[in-house]
Amino acid sequence: MGSLARDKLIVALDVETAPRARELFSALRDVAAMFKIGMQLFTAVGPTIVHEIIDAGGRVFLDLKYHDIPNTVAAAGVEAARHGISIFNVHTSGGAEMMRRTAEAVAEVSAREDLVRPRIIGVTLLTSANARVLAEISVVKSPEQQVTALAQLAAASGLDGVVASPLEVAAVRAAVAKQDFLIVTPGVRPSGTKPNDQKRLMTPAEAIRAGSDYLVVGRPIIDAADPAEAARQIVKEMGEA
Ligand code: C5P
Repeated sequence: MGSLARDKLIVALDVETAPRARELFSALRDVAAMFKIGMQLFTAVGPTIVHEIIDAGGRVFLDLKYHDIPNTVAAAGVEAARHGISIFNVHTSGGAEMMRRTAEAVAEVSAREDLVRPRIIGVTLLTSANARVLAEISVVKSPEQQVTALAQLAAASGLDGVVASPLEVAAVRAAVAKQDFLIVTPGVRPSGTKPNDQKRLMTPAEAIRAGSDYLVVGRPIIDAADPAEAARQIVKEMGEA
């Protein structure tokens, strides 16, 4: 175990209120590399919690999974950059133009306004989705084929990486030649914990071994009686890889 493993843990602050988010941030700031603010917390309390965490020295992954016309997503990406977040994401299924225009607009505003350019990653296939869900939405490819095709599109469109299940990390690495292409993996469950709605899962050690750059973990930490201890256990399991 050590700082290396800890530098790869992102805690999902999937909670209802700012006080609960603050409490988890204080308990976990020394164990986690970054805090993920997603649609629940952001919809409930807005960007103030993002600023609070950044002002207190934390790093934020804004997980709002933008998916809209290119102009709208590029404009939202610019506002995300202005919040000072480290990573945000868009849906790769929005297409190449959407991703390319967002990457260009964010690079341009970051240079012009002297911001630290956030990394932009693409959601490939949600880790709660499996082959049956793909069939429901008329996708004939297997999950792995769909994820690698979308990862290649993301790389070709100027994104910095993708969100994918740990099961697809090796395939994405093989399919995308780009150096430093980030792979962020939710769908991580320590041995012996509940899968919840996640379907394409691995343990922390397996995900690290597969080559994930960051592991996103929510409920196994935030619902634990002692979140800091649960996070330390996960970092320990990551360090065993
Ligand atoms: O609680 P759990 O560990 O399942 O949380 C995983 C987090 O990662 C959730 O916030 C979820 O929105 C997010 N996520 C995901 N699958 C993706 C992208 C993001 O589970 N493909």
